[in-house]
Amino acid sequence: MSGSSDVILDVVNLKKWFPLRRGLREIVGRKPRKYVKAVDGISFQIKKGEIFALAGESGCGKSTTGRTVLRLLEPTDGTVRFMGKDIMSLDQNGIKSFLRRKAQIIFQDPYESLSPRMTVEDIIGEPLEVHRLVNSKEERKEIVSRYLEEVGLTPAKDFIFRYPHELSGGQRQRVAVARALVLEPEFIVADEPVSMLDMSIRASILNLLLDLREKRGLSFLFITHDLSVAKYIADRLAIMYLGKIVELGKATDVIDNPQHPYTKALISAVPVPDPRHKIGEIPIKGEVPSPINIPPGCRFHPRCLYAFEPCDKEEPELREVEPGHFVACHLYDQAR
Ligand SMILES: Nc1ncnc2c1ncn2[C@@H]1O[C@H](COP(=O)(O)OP(=O)(O)O)[C@@H](O)[C@H]1O
Ligand code: SF4
Ligand SMILES: [Mg+2]
Repeated sequence: MSGSSDVILDVVNLKKWFPLRRGLREIVGRKPRKYVKAVDGISFQIKKGEIFALAGESGCGKSTTGRTVLRLLEPTDGTVRFMGKDIMSLDQNGIKSFLRRKAQIIFQDPYESLSPRMTVEDIIGEPLEVHRLVNSKEERKEIVSRYLEEVGLTPAKDFIFRYPHELSGGQRQRVAVARALVLEPEFIVADEPVSMLDMSIRASILNLLLDLREKRGLSFLFITHDLSVAKYIADRLAIMYLGKIVELGKATDVIDNPQHPYTKALISAVPVPDPRHKIGEIPIKGEVPSPINIPPGCRFHPRCLYAFEPCDKEEPELREVEPGHFVACHLYDQAR
């Protein structure tokens, strides 16, 4: 599959380590620098028109992954090819003219991501101005109106002059989606786009994204900590734990037939596969360790109920255990 033209995003061994600030004692003592290993060597591909979800508990590295593949953060290591181009080799010009046009991001909290002093027209029209794609105010207004209608804010004239505080949470997120669409991107990173919304309107925003995929053939990296949301929207799903992917496959396979002990624990915490239900407590012993001191071997071993002899020494590789379903766990080394 590698490099084939139906792949829009190809991520290989991506790492993002944040250096920790060193105190005087560490500097004088020449102690090695420590890092927060937020993303610690992950590989995955997203196909054209696919919704690929990344799930896992808070702090496992989902947002850092989403930002690094768009070069909103600079990677520590690894390669990312987007629409066939190595985006790591792009200069600032290439980032602006290619990456910032073809790929967009939607954040969890539209109230934070939308400027409170700008009208809906200015918010959605701004990317058109930045990329010099409009010649007149009238043209800009016409384009903005078209996108408002497309995201379900109709009639557009009722919304175009409003400020973010004059909109509901769901309407604000629709404005954020319109802003992401206005440059006609191929790919969107959606970072927990419904987590802040009331349960009652989550499904309508998820359905809007599903419609956009259908109509425009858009591809998504969809980040969520909520497996019921992932099951509702995603084609394929990767589960992250402490900066690594531990399981990856068709969303229905991973959720209905989880193989990794961590995924099993996560799933058992979801009462019903319904986007209106929220994830509960996770029945695993202990806390998530710090990404500064990642346990050796399998990074899940101190919390794993199945840990055995190799687990604290050898890091398990992601292996295909059934067609298209990958798991990183020594239990599956033995079965093979
Ligand atoms: N700019 C940063 N500097 C230092 N550490 C960071 C930074 N951004 C994120 N982290 C750390 O990286 C880890 C992963 O964070 P994040 O990607 O936001 O996780 P998630 O989105 O899965 O909740 C966390 O331990 C977080 O504290
Ligand atoms: S490799 Fe070992 S410790 Fe890690 S998940 Fe599998 S059984 Fe548990
Ligand atoms: Mg996050």
